[in-house]
Amino acid sequence: MPETSSLLSLSKDKIRILLLEGIDGSAARQLEAAGYTNVAAETGTLPPGELAERLEDVHFVGIRSRTKLTEEVLQRASRLAAVGCFCIGTDQVAATAARRLGIPVFNAPYGNTRSVAELVLAEIILLLRGIPARNAAAHRGEWLKSSEKAHEVRGKTLGIVGYGHIGMQLGVLAEGLGMQVVFFDTAPRLPLGNARAVAALEDVLAAADVLSLHVPDTPVTRGMIGELELGAMRPGSHVINASRGGVVDIAALAAALRSGHLGGAAVDVFPQEPASTRDVFASDLQGLDNVLLTPHIGGSTHEAQQNIAVDVATKLVQYSDNGSTVGAVNFPEVSLPEHVSARRILHIHRNEPGVLTAVNQVLAASGANIAGQYLQTLPDVGYVVMDVETNDVAPLLGGLGALEATIRTRWLR
Ligand code: NAI
Repeated sequence: MPETSSLLSLSKDKIRILLLEGIDGSAARQLEAAGYTNVAAETGTLPPGELAERLEDVHFVGIRSRTKLTEEVLQRASRLAAVGCFCIGTDQVAATAARRLGIPVFNAPYGNTRSVAELVLAEIILLLRGIPARNAAAHRGEWLKSSEKAHEVRGKTLGIVGYGHIGMQLGVLAEGLGMQVVFFDTAPRLPLGNARAVAALEDVLAAADVLSLHVPDTPVTRGMIGELELGAMRPGSHVINASRGGVVDIAALAAALRSGHLGGAAVDVFPQEPASTRDVFASDLQGLDNVLLTPHIGGSTHEAQQNIAVDVATKLVQYSDNGSTVGAVNFPEVSLPEHVSARRILHIHRNEPGVLTAVNQVLAASGANIAGQYLQTLPDVGYVVMDVETNDVAPLLGGLGALEATIRTRWLR
């Protein structure tokens, strides 16, 4: 069983934080600036046995994608209050098990937005100038000095599918170069700048000189750009995919490029990607001079790593200082005002009928005045935060800890 009051009475410098996998140094600086000076950083992963052992004594852990936090590891980590994934994905963590143990998991889904948008912007210019083919030819000793199929981007139309964080940022940057931007999104999105929303995917396909895809991986988006859609694009137009590998039918794209219907493509994500840098990459798009192939590096920049480090470190600090779970991927999301004078008690419990009544009975019996109460639940776990005016929290913590449904209780100094 997890300790029920793992951070009870600990001052910030006693809260132990372990950062693994070479997380950017700005994370430790952010934590230290907030008073969390007990930070240990490792450049790599830890072998599974050592990981479980180290985590037994740690209050917060920061990982990237290679550290696997299984249910077994989490169960042993009885002091662990939260996990920070200093990356986009959280598949490496048993997030449901973490929730049931009262451990929120945070990540940084948008820290690399700008990096993706900048890469795509560069690719738009390169594709419209026919650079990929000229570059490939020059490497072979050929001199393709001509203006054939070389265009400025100014005045051309960029079609964006998926006008979310990346799509919007790209649209703004492309307008800065004088492009016209049209977009299609299934959710209503306010156009930025002079971008224009269209009602259907076909409208973007018909309008675009360059089509850029920025949708998530869903059953609907998987294969959403296939033979039919590519056929509906303008002759000589270009396709860019830096979203998810399954969105474009690669065989259909290769065929449209080989036939000359499309002028070029840039692809960063693939249905099958090598698991590591040691594995071989194979794609139907290899050998096509007018295609830019990149190894899923759209978001891989130093600046993105820094953004991610600051973002996740801030979320951990907010949770530790304030109890806020905003941005947690597995937890009831509670956004809280700063706690100033009242004592703040955080109670994580199994979401069963009658729990809140029982919590309030404990509060009533203690005689403490409740200044504020915030509750959010998921089907299996509830999170209630209470600001109480009392000089002695011990009876309250004892009463809450004794409730059958309690997973964890902590209080903030
Ligand atoms: P986001 O969630 O902010 O935006 C996605 C947008 O797509 C939303 O506005 C959503 O309403 C829209 N959408 C969903 N289904 C749609 C459909 N069927 N048709 C049209 N629009 C649809 O996501 P964000 O951050 O902009 O990321 C976009 C994609 O880029 C994601 O797939 C993400 O995994 C990928 N990505 C790739 C990176 C790389 O290294 N290449 C790095 C970062 C993100």
